[in-house]
Formats: sequence, structure tokens, C-alpha cells
Amino acid sequence: MSGTGFHHVPVLLSQTLEALQLREGGVYLDGTVGGGGHSKAILTALSGNCGLYAVDRDGDALTAARARLSAWEGVTFIHGNFHDAPQLLGDVRFDGILLDLGVSSWHLDSAERGFSYHEDAPLDMRMDRSGGLTAAQWLNTRDEHTIAQALYEYADERWAARIAKSIIQMREEKPLSTTMDLVRAVDRAIPKAVRRKIEGHPARRTFQAVRIAVNDEIGPLQRALEDLVLMLRPGGRLCVISFHSVEDRAVKRAFVRMRNPCVCPPSAPVCICGREPIATLPKGYPVAADEAEVIVNPRSRSARLRVAQRI
Ligand SMILES: C[S@@+](CC[C@H](N)C(=O)[O-])C[C@H]1O[C@@H](n2cnc3c(N)ncnc32)[C@H](O)[C@@H]1O
Repeated sequence: MSGTGFHHVPVLLSQTLEALQLREGGVYLDGTVGGGGHSKAILTALSGNCGLYAVDRDGDALTAARARLSAWEGVTFIHGNFHDAPQLLGDVRFDGILLDLGVSSWHLDSAERGFSYHEDAPLDMRMDRSGGLTAAQWLNTRDEHTIAQALYEYADERWAARIAKSIIQMREEKPLSTTMDLVRAVDRAIPKAVRRKIEGHPARRTFQAVRIAVNDEIGPLQRALEDLVLMLRPGGRLCVISFHSVEDRAVKRAFVRMRNPCVCPPSAPVCICGREPIATLPKGYPVAADEAEVIVNPRSRSARLRVAQRI
């Protein structure tokens, strides 16, 4: 796939560059390089005078990033999951780390990847197609409670229980195999009058939740963010862009715990758990996209940038 086939407009770009406090000669990690938009801006801002590690769990995204950043030296591309950063990157220490979470516009626009509820395609949704369960396999094998819980926890879906029941009923007739099978399961679960009033597509939350479950996006996040902060040099910053409230809550919770990891009961007169803060949370964050950016790139509407700084 060529670099030009990968269309994705980087969100909160100037705010992210500012938050990273870039400096010449620094070493940076883009843990979700995608099409390389943010990475290219980092390299450009520093005239290539830096080290950059570019990670993505999607091999196709990495191919696109490689093509887009081919003019720059000093970029190390790694196919992997940033949840495994200590194993992937060993002893490397960074001056700044960026995570731009979730899927890219290119994922959503590539019908055959199965992320879109607008196009009929195999129900895949894996970011890394080299392994793991597809969305179809996940939905055809999990029990009703697990599916309902995922819909509720990962997308605040208020119709979670009914949608889960509908999925189970549908798969008893025939296993789900396409994106439209899942759209139909949602349609059957939500009364027509309600569906008409829902803002956006009625299957939006279900697709979000299934994608998060299939790619295990939230569970390991807190641990991963802590690992990444510990890979920063003192004063280095971890910048995280999230796209929905479930993700943002998880990031916020992890950051607050880094600033105050003490688990002593409130009644304890002094701290006895001995857990020391590993980060401060610089003032002025989270930031959201301004109106001008939202007009040009509507996907930026829900984006939030949070920052933690290594002590
Ligand atoms: C929103 S896009 C990043 C776009 C990029 N910042 C740009 O400007 O082109 C998110 C990318 O992160 C990748 N990704 C998501 N979760 C990941 C994870 N846990 N580890 C590695 N890559 C991940 C996705 O495959 C996708 O390519």
C-alpha cells in the first residue's frame, strides 16, 4: 500500500507539538504512528535533528508511515502494541511520547477492515490482522452477559442488554459474519421510534464497544501509561489524545494515579504505603479542538489531549 493511500488528518497538531516541548537532539516515541502525520510534524519542527521511534500495531499503517517518513533519517519503525513498550523498546529513554488513540480515518474508510457501519464488509475490526479474534468470532463466542457488559462499559450504550440479547438470538439462526449483520442486530434491539431520535447512527456505540473489546484497548491502558511515563527522562512528557469519554476517563484515572498513587486509607495520619508520585499534571489540560479545526476536520470534535510530565 502506498503512503498516499492512507488518508488521515492529524488532530490537535499544534497543541500536541507545544505540549511535547520539543527540543533538538531529543528522542521521541510515537506509539500510534498511523499515517505518520504527527511524526512528520515532529521531524519537521526539529529539522530531523532528533531520534524518533514509530510504533503501530497495524502492519499496513506502519507501511504507510514508512513511505511518508522515508525522507527522514533516524526513524526506527516497530510493528507492535504500545501496551508492550518495555519489551519493544528495552532501555531507550524518551524526551517525549505521543499516543493518538483508537483507529485512524483510514481504518474507518477502508470498508474491508470491518470498522464501518456504513458499508457491508466482513466483520473483522482487528487493528493487527496478524492474530487475535475477529469481531465476528468474538460476537459468535462470548456469552450474553459479556457482550452486554462490553457495550455498557466501552460505549455507555443504554440499550446494551437488549442489543446483546438480539445478537445471541441472531447468531442462533446464523453466526454473524458481516458488518450489516451487526447493524441489523442493533436495529432489532432498539425500537424504531427511539432509533430515529438517537444522535448519530444507532449502531455507532455498538461498533465502538466491539472494536474496543476485540482490540483490548482499555483494560491494559492504565498499566501501559504508567510503563510509558517510567520510560521518560525527568521532565519528559507523555501526551495522550483520546476520542471518546470511555478512553478519556481511563487516561484521566491513570494520570491522577501517577500524581497521587497513595493507597493509604483517608484515616491514616501519615502515608504508610510508600508509593511515590511519578508524574505531575501540567496546568491547562485537557485541551479540545477549537471551532476552526472542528469545521475542517469534524473527527476532532471529541478529541481531548491530556499531558503527564515525568518527575
Ligand atoms: C488515530 S490513528 C494515529 C494517526 C497518526 N497520529 C497520524 O497523524 O497519522 C491511531 C493509530 O494507532 C494504532 N494503534 C491503536 N492502538 C494501538 C496500540 N495499542 N499499539 C500500537 N498502535 C496502536 C492504530 O492502528 C492506528 O494506526
